[in-house]
Amino acid sequence: MEEKATIISLKNVCKVFENDQVVVDDFNLDVKEGEFITILGPSGCGKTTTLRMIAGFELPSSGEILLNGSDISLLPPYKRPVNTVFQHYALFPHLDVYDNVAFGLKLKKVPVEVTDKKGNKVIKMKRLSAKVIDEKVLHALQIVDLDEMEDRDVATLSGGQQQRVAIARAIVNEPKVLLLDEPLSALDHKMRKDMQVELKEMHKKLGITFFYVTHDQEEALTMSDRIVVMRRGEIQQVGTPEEIYNEPINAFVADFIGESNIYNGTIEAPERVRFIGSVWKCPMEEGFEINEKVDIVIRPEDVILIEEGKGIANGVIESKIFKGVHYEYIVKVGKNEVLCRDTRNHEIGKVVGIRVEPENLQLMHKDFTINQYADALINNNNEVVIGEDPFPCDVTQLLKGSKLDEEGYLIGPDGKKYDLKNAPVVAEVPLDKVTLSDDLNSGQSQGKIISSVWIGDHWQYIVRTDDEEDFVINSPYTWSIRDLVSVSIAKEDIALRLKKGLEEYVVE
Ligand SMILES: Nc1ncnc2c1ncn2[C@@H]1O[C@H](COP(=O)(O)OP(=O)(O)OP(=O)(O)O)[C@@H](O)[C@H]1O
Ligand SMILES: [Mg+2]
Repeated sequence: MEEKATIISLKNVCKVFENDQVVVDDFNLDVKEGEFITILGPSGCGKTTTLRMIAGFELPSSGEILLNGSDISLLPPYKRPVNTVFQHYALFPHLDVYDNVAFGLKLKKVPVEVTDKKGNKVIKMKRLSAKVIDEKVLHALQIVDLDEMEDRDVATLSGGQQQRVAIARAIVNEPKVLLLDEPLSALDHKMRKDMQVELKEMHKKLGITFFYVTHDQEEALTMSDRIVVMRRGEIQQVGTPEEIYNEPINAFVADFIGESNIYNGTIEAPERVRFIGSVWKCPMEEGFEINEKVDIVIRPEDVILIEEGKGIANGVIESKIFKGVHYEYIVKVGKNEVLCRDTRNHEIGKVVGIRVEPENLQLMHKDFTINQYADALINNNNEVVIGEDPFPCDVTQLLKGSKLDEEGYLIGPDGKKYDLKNAPVVAEVPLDKVTLSDDLNSGQSQGKIISSVWIGDHWQYIVRTDDEEDFVINSPYTWSIRDLVSVSIAKEDIALRLKKGLEEYVVE
């Protein structure tokens, strides 16, 4: 296949809003001409913001956006050869289909070469002729399959038809790139499915680049040439739908892109990984070390159920659901759950063996092994301030044999006195030492759950506080995304390290 030229490049693009919130963080992406590329990620991860920077409605705080190799960062939206179909599209209710689509064209002026009275050729800006507008509008309506409907009042159209008008309005300007921000989110399930197929058709017919944004993984998988998975402003993985589905780079992508089993494991030896109580043969990929803690992903369709004792592990069938072609089972292996699919009918309570082909075990580096806060401070009460919230901690760990006197100074074993007030420290808290509660006053900090991933026998949550500090938590309890929770950490579970030497803090 011939290599297509790059049409859009985002280079180290960052967006920081006034409240210092980093919404897009070092975004790098090359989009090929004619490609259908999709940004996929949960609500609030920065998808719309990225699109708005390409469209020109938002300026990057740093980095460059190139179109065909030239920087367009400073071009206003109307000078960019891109058009946007918005998440919440607004048609003009008092205009019919034709006039909605023609609206922009009627205002548009294009440079035309004319001969003036003196016989000189000059460039003049002229409106498009009615004939040209007519041709363009009818062509656009044909592409979105509304060619018989140009006289209809838009208020009498179905949601799907309205959405097609919005798309026609964008493609009538013949953009090089069409930006689509969750264009199907207002449609019902059936209509979405139909429109997905139609959008793909339109993409083929037009031959232009589609830059699509969605939080729906199925939509991304069915339509895209390549998917960019985004979380918290950062790209997690870029790849074809098959690559993203079969070789997710981390637990977040695996969980977000479809149903999967995710477990904590340890690499025991080359090609051997231990998880859920057994050692499994796995492909040895580069970059993994013996004893490294890893996440392991197994798709439910890759779990093979066999006779008890003949697999790598044994488990008990705990539940089953008939799904038409196959049954979906949850097999309990110790306290871990294994989700699997099998066409055979097994009884609940039966003990079965479990096997997985080594190539179907996907090994991933762990995203989080510990919460680390590199900008923490000790305050005048000898608490550690993480984000803007003080957490009780034990500062005597900073010097062996030390204690605190009644005034709060740290006294060394040799009697030397230290004042730790405002000392910058790195604070570390293990993932399973953070406790969540729905009693918002019970903890030291409060926040909202922004991510949850089930890892075999526990959840891994991320809680983001009001001052944008994230806590990663392993917990057996179920919370929902957006739940408000309080975060507490026991004093002895916060490990501290001074950023400067202790001598800095000696009191004479
Ligand atoms: N103008 C703004 N000022 C401050 N913060 C903003 C602004 N616009 C967006 N944000 C914040 O930036 C983050 C990312 O927003 P964005 O709209 O890009 O997310 P998204 O991925 O499109 O989410 P959704 O799926 O809900 O549409 C959010 O936390 C949002 O509140
Ligand atoms: Mg959005």
